[in-house]
Amino acid sequence: MIIEALAFATQRAAPGARTTGVAAEQAAIIARYIRCRRAWLPHLARCRAFVQSAVARTRQRRRAVVLGSGPLLDIPLAAISAAFDEVILVDAVHPLHARLAARRLGNVVALPFSLVAHGASPPTYRSWRHAVAGADIVVASMLLSQLPPPRATDPRAGWRHALVADALADLGAGGEAACLVTETACVIHGPGEGRSEEDPLHGVFAPPALERWQWALAPPGERGDGAEVVLQVSACLRLPGEGAWLG
Ligand SMILES: C[S@@+](CC[C@H](N)C(=O)[O-])C[C@H]1O[C@@H](n2cnc3c(N)ncnc32)[C@H](O)[C@@H]1O
Repeated sequence: MIIEALAFATQRAAPGARTTGVAAEQAAIIARYIRCRRAWLPHLARCRAFVQSAVARTRQRRRAVVLGSGPLLDIPLAAISAAFDEVILVDAVHPLHARLAARRLGNVVALPFSLVAHGASPPTYRSWRHAVAGADIVVASMLLSQLPPPRATDPRAGWRHALVADALADLGAGGEAACLVTETACVIHGPGEGRSEEDPLHGVFAPPALERWQWALAPPGERGDGAEVVLQVSACLRLPGEGAWLG
């Protein structure tokens, strides 16, 4: 609770990020990471390694854009900063430690920018391309499922699907390399024998995956109801000049 409050109090947030629940959600993720760090490590290491391999396959290295960079848990920021002239972190909320890391590295800018149009109902996608031009690679790790704002209550069907679909289409629409790591299924085990599955992408299909793994999001003991939550994760890459995602 204290960690969550501290994280929340020291964020830099874009307009709307606090009222829509995005800022609170990010503070909760940071607190959950501190509780579940050991269980999350294999997933975070695979994310970082995949992003690093995408960087290694990108020849032109002037500007890298990282969407949903937030707490920088799954982003190898020092390696990206060393490889590119400039790195732009795009998130509706930048926690203090991410802003300090950006300042320390010198060529990293933390840009507060919401990828969802502020005040629109139902919420709609807003492209980062309005704010940043000339990217050589765009990275989005564990972002897509987080785009529908937590407190949005619009009752119309389909807006979450449209929001995620538009974000994914935009990711693959430019001339730069695109590196996507995303959850594709959420499996809830228990309590007891029960098992249920949710679709974090709201019916949107992820591109072909070069790698797949599982993330123990809520390991045993994390949830009060005794359930465990495991996410299926896909890692996808599209190189400049290639019309389609690899794989
Ligand atoms: C699960 S976290 C991603 C983890 C991050 N890649 C890392 O390395 O720790 C999802 C991120 O998406 C961001 N996000 C959610 N809605 C957003 C929006 N409308 N615009 C920009 N970023 C948003 C959150 O602030 C959060 O930092």
